[in-house]
Amino acid sequence: MEFRDIVMQRYAVKLFDGRMIDEQTLFVLLDIIRYSPSAFNLQPWKIKIVSASKIKKNLLPHTNNQPQVTTCSHLLVFCANTELEPLVDKAVEGLVKSGLSPETVSQYAAMIKAYIGSMTPEQRMAFAREQIHIALANAINGAKSLGLDSCPMGGFDPAGYAEALFLPEEYVPVVLCAIGYAADKAPPKWRLPREEVFF
Ligand SMILES: Cc1cc2nc3c(=O)[nH]c(=O)nc-3n(C[C@H](O)[C@H](O)[C@H](O)COP(=O)(O)O)c2cc1C
Repeated sequence: MEFRDIVMQRYAVKLFDGRMIDEQTLFVLLDIIRYSPSAFNLQPWKIKIVSASKIKKNLLPHTNNQPQVTTCSHLLVFCANTELEPLVDKAVEGLVKSGLSPETVSQYAAMIKAYIGSMTPEQRMAFAREQIHIALANAINGAKSLGLDSCPMGGFDPAGYAEALFLPEEYVPVVLCAIGYAADKAPPKWRLPREEVFF
């Protein structure tokens, strides 16, 4: 499928048919998400994968009772990982492994650490959120490329999710992506006209 067709044909599914995605396909999708770009390559995300019916049912009231949650195959809960400093160390290790000199890398690491060190907790969250929505875009388009359907979802209560999923404090739910097989039909696509978007 051409990328253009993927983008045009995917839509936010309101109801899935309950079929489960096979593990191999899921694995490919998770890699598409994992390879998403992020600022400084920090990858400030942790993604909880929910497939058990009982847990999905528990999450339903924290999702405004949106039926995508209980009818999807897998629900991906994209959380911000606000512990950025250890991620800088990991990104730096990655750069050394890819052949950059330790001196260059240590200067770069100091620059990033100074930058994130100056951030307020709110700015850290905003930083992580920005990156997470890139991974979300890869999730929905990646799903379509694999013959799957999806729904990105912001209509949920992050505190309720954190409690129901026993998330550690540093992982803050930001957005959901329900994945599975659609039981509804794609509505007509509407977007702002070109001249209203580009100037
Ligand atoms: C960040 C984000 C949050 C969204 N939250 C919800 C949601 O909670 N429930 C829902 O049914 N759709 C949700 N959507 C889907 C949008 O309503 C949908 O993408 C938009 O109307 C365009 O339609 P399309 O994706 O079918 O082309 C969300 C989309 C995004 C990107």
